Amino acid sequence: MTTPAQSDLAPPPTLEVRGGRKNFGAVHALRGVDIVARAGEVTALVGDNGAGKSTLIKCIAGIFPFDAGEVRYEGETVHISDPGAANDIGIEVVYQDLALCDNLDIVHNMFLGRELRKGFRLDEAAMETRAAEVLASLSVRTVRSIRQHVASLSGGQRQTVAIARAVLWNSKLVILDEPTAALGVAQTEQVLQLVRRLADAGLAVVLVSHNMNDVFEVADSISVLYLGQTAAQVRTADTSRAEVIELITSGSAVAPVGAPGTAQPATDNANGSTTA
Ligand SMILES: Nc1ncnc2c1ncn2[C@@H]1O[C@H](COP(=O)(O)OP(=O)(O)O)[C@@H](O)[C@H]1O
Ligand SMILES: [Mg+2]
Repeated sequence: MTTPAQSDLAPPPTLEVRGGRKNFGAVHALRGVDIVARAGEVTALVGDNGAGKSTLIKCIAGIFPFDAGEVRYEGETVHISDPGAANDIGIEVVYQDLALCDNLDIVHNMFLGRELRKGFRLDEAAMETRAAEVLASLSVRTVRSIRQHVASLSGGQRQTVAIARAVLWNSKLVILDEPTAALGVAQTEQVLQLVRRLADAGLAVVLVSHNMNDVFEVADSISVLYLGQTAAQVRTADTSRAEVIELITSGSAVAPVGAPGTAQPATDNANGSTTA
């Protein structure tokens, strides 16, 4: 039996942005951004401070509109007008501030703003069951009780709650903005393992990060932003830290694009080849 080439079988990427642009008045925050994020993969989004990472994820999440460019979601062109519209199609973002309420417990934080109700009352039992299921499905064993206030949690546990909240809603694309930035070594490791499990469970995960250790530990693909433009998107297996750091700091890599092991334009197929 012959098997078709993988590219014939591969579903369209969960997310594909082409030529994304965004100005804030005279500031050209995004000047031509391409990124591809696939189900089952962690796509790292890297770049120096001010490169446009946060702006890009806010445009994807519907907080700001792109001024120009195309966004395709599961192969269809979409116009994400507001954060609710992003949530409706399965896009969830965990921002750096996490937006958790310290005075509420884990269950209430996970359902914050989207509480389950039974008539006029909150359906506490249903929320608790669902929260416990999601945490168990993510193999989260570090929290003592899901009824404890988040004020009592460690940084890593808070990040875990914020991530679990993002996957409660049949999400397909989860974007994490610097989830390990404030964490120590052990908690970073736990969060990275969680990030990996999200992808292994079939989600497309975009991981914004400054940390090359994190990126090379969990990412399948690395998209580099340089001064608001995509310098390259490369398969992790085909690149090196030195090359990624060079892309971050200079916007290009020394070896010619297309040479083995060097940066490719952001066409990054699942099979590692570039499209013509
Ligand atoms: N709301 C805003 N108004 C004006 N300029 C902004 C705004 N948000 C971001 N910028 C500018 O856009 C550029 C990209 O910023 P940002 O997306 O935060 O980068 P990164 O997350 O990669 O550090 C920076 O020059 C920043 O000052
Ligand atoms: Mg940022």
